[in-house]
Amino acid sequence: ALVEKGEYRHFMEKEIHEQPDSVQHTLSHYLDFVNGRVKPGEIDFAAVDRIQIVACGTAFYAGQIGRYAFERLAGLPCDVEIASEFRYRNPAVAPGTLAVAVSQSGETADTLASLSWCKANGLKTAALVNVHSSSMAREALVVWPTHAGPEIGVASTKAFTAQVAALLALAVTAGVQRGRIDPLIEGELVKALFEAPRLIAEAVQMDGALRGVAHELSKATDVLFLGRGAMFPLAMEGALKLKEISYIHAEGYAAGELKHGPIALVDELTPIVALAPLDEVFEKTASNLQEVAARGGPVIMIAPKAAPDPHGAGISRIDAPDCHPLIAPLVYAIPVQLLAYYTAVEKGTDVDQPRNLAKSVTVE
Ligand code: AGP
Repeated sequence: ALVEKGEYRHFMEKEIHEQPDSVQHTLSHYLDFVNGRVKPGEIDFAAVDRIQIVACGTAFYAGQIGRYAFERLAGLPCDVEIASEFRYRNPAVAPGTLAVAVSQSGETADTLASLSWCKANGLKTAALVNVHSSSMAREALVVWPTHAGPEIGVASTKAFTAQVAALLALAVTAGVQRGRIDPLIEGELVKALFEAPRLIAEAVQMDGALRGVAHELSKATDVLFLGRGAMFPLAMEGALKLKEISYIHAEGYAAGELKHGPIALVDELTPIVALAPLDEVFEKTASNLQEVAARGGPVIMIAPKAAPDPHGAGISRIDAPDCHPLIAPLVYAIPVQLLAYYTAVEKGTDVDQPRNLAKSVTVE
């Protein structure tokens, strides 16, 4: 079916706005909201010893967010690797490993080859894909669908949050099946996920404040994104999004890694975007922000209103919706995407068809 932009200026803008629905639709596949329970799927996580995720680009960052959840909630060891590395290095994979390919298109050459390698080496395989009839869906033993609908913009947005939503739901499922999550906590986590579409819709309304920040970013040649925990892969995703569509050099770092090198880059011309939900590492992130602000870096902290102000000049704040830490990567994905989008619009680039990029990389 022909997909149209409708009232939106770009497909990317439309796809950002579709995320309350695409996340809701994806979560419904994995969770029973009425009873506050996970739905048992084809994989019994109690019989899985390890997870090996393979993916490229944005899907790789979704996989890294999944890893934090699988290990924390299910005590399930999880590795995540870029498919172009995994496929050629003869990795040592333990039997009992479930290999998971994460891909919007289901056609990315390196991810498909990694999946086939895992299958040929006797592993159970699953494909977390948005195109349910794709090569990866056919190759894998189990298909885990995302329901983002067709994604037209080359820069992935709604496919990413759908992947993250599915991985978070699967991590809760794994926790339940492995006896790490009791029915009370299960109900609480399912409820937290159920809140995600509404909070994503709230985050989409952050656009006014973000346009001002985007105006500043559009003048920069380098931007740093910082986060801890699941906000670290999201920081890398934010940097990738900004590079892809605004052609501004950006890097995502774990906030605690700054003083091991990248803090040398900090000056008054390098904006630092910090993703700081109110979670157990908030204070740690806040103290890293004081360090960069003290060196003259203009810091933009995206955090809920309830988060205390880090002391230090040069820290400006953007209010994000208050949310359960489990769903923070879904909620904070929105300002990250909007920042890249508005910066690109400000620079007048071809947002939906950025230079040198293809929607799916089906050749090496
Ligand atoms: C993201 O904005 C990208 N353009 C790119 O990194 C993409 O996520 C990657 O090529 C993987 O594609 P896939 O999900 O279709 O496998």
